[in-house]
Amino acid sequence: MFSEKNIVLIVSGGIAAYKAATFARLLIKEKAHVKVVMTKSATEFITPKTMAVLTNEPVLTDLFADPTDAKIDHISVADWADYIFVVPATANIIAKIANGIADDAASTVLAARHTPLIIAPAMNENMYRQKAVQKNLQNIVADGDIVIQPAEGLLAEGYSGQGRLPEPADILAYSELVLHQKQGRLQNKHVVISAGGTVEPIDPVRYISNRSSGKMGYALAKAAAEQGAQVTLVSATTTLSDPIGVKTIHIQSAQDLSDQMMAALPAADIMIMAAAVSDYRISEPAVNKLKKQTSGQLTLTLVENPDILAQLGAMKKEQYLVGFAAETQNLLEYAQTKLVKKNADMLVANDVSKQQVGFGYDTNQVTILTKNQEPQVLPLQDKLSVARKIMQKISEVIN
Ligand SMILES: Cc1cc2nc3c(=O)[nH]c(=O)nc-3n(C[C@H](O)[C@H](O)[C@H](O)COP(=O)(O)O)c2cc1C
Repeated sequence: MFSEKNIVLIVSGGIAAYKAATFARLLIKEKAHVKVVMTKSATEFITPKTMAVLTNEPVLTDLFADPTDAKIDHISVADWADYIFVVPATANIIAKIANGIADDAASTVLAARHTPLIIAPAMNENMYRQKAVQKNLQNIVADGDIVIQPAEGLLAEGYSGQGRLPEPADILAYSELVLHQKQGRLQNKHVVISAGGTVEPIDPVRYISNRSSGKMGYALAKAAAEQGAQVTLVSATTTLSDPIGVKTIHIQSAQDLSDQMMAALPAADIMIMAAAVSDYRISEPAVNKLKKQTSGQLTLTLVENPDILAQLGAMKKEQYLVGFAAETQNLLEYAQTKLVKKNADMLVANDVSKQQVGFGYDTNQVTILTKNQEPQVLPLQDKLSVARKIMQKISEVIN
């Protein structure tokens, strides 16, 4: 989102100012063009030289630095920006932003801005909870700017509380999410997505599962959140971290998943079944760990699990229902049959026998089937790009 964009990074004078260096580097890694403006206090914590070398640009610190220069720096910097970040934002600069005070280079650039502003407050918890600071933050949000909540954790004062600057990668991810959401096409929609592979216990230490990594479902959750949706992710096993801005519920078995999805159905607008659900479970999982059998054989009795997509298809009213079909042969035929039989509105089919497609890979190649439309074949691409195309298609159909 920030690739080839002009970013003004304003650094104010808090103890977390050193993290602005990492943040600048991340932006540059995203191929953004970065210019840094620092308050006088910020230069007590990190040198302008560091920021200049990292960004390969001069750093603006003084409104009146060069009296012979006819150029008005604070205006040209504000005009140049596609986005302005304040990382970290002190209580002081927050007060200036909220009240339009312009008494140094940083606050004057801010007063002259006309592009989206994202600020990341960081301070001692008592300062953060101060009524004046909270009122100023509320005013900044009410003016349409973005405030990233400080994180909880160990503060510079040696005790824990809310006030820490979030990690630079989280500031970047959260900013992208919120900026996307502001332009999103799924505002006010509740999207429920299942992901990962279900786990069916054999005994307390063993289970039956499948190769699903959860990557596709997690990418869908991220893509739905980017479009401004309220997203609930019902996640079976995966090693992935919970996506930012998404309510994630962790479950184990197909029965747990069925319970969560059925409970979520009435309040959902869009239901996406991307989890790989075990068709069968052990009829009676052993209470204690199974010992080796003297016969040299172990027979497990399996019983069928609920068909969650079919359950949702039978129960749904206005909800838009999306299923996934991972097949190794006769892909489109199976997917078409599944679309109709399960009463789904969209079926995303992938041939998991192909290289780089489906389970565990970061890429996927899918065909989207909808009722009364020609199948849409998407090229092989990373799972987030696939997810964005799927959410785009859903938003077109339901809006
Ligand atoms: C060691 C030290 C650490 C500080 N850390 C913070 C901080 O994390 N957050 C904050 O709002 N102010 C902090 N301050 C206070 C600010 O530096 C002070 O309010 C200053 O006026 C801010 O100026 P600026 O907003 O122009 O950068 C700290 C001050 C000192 C001396």
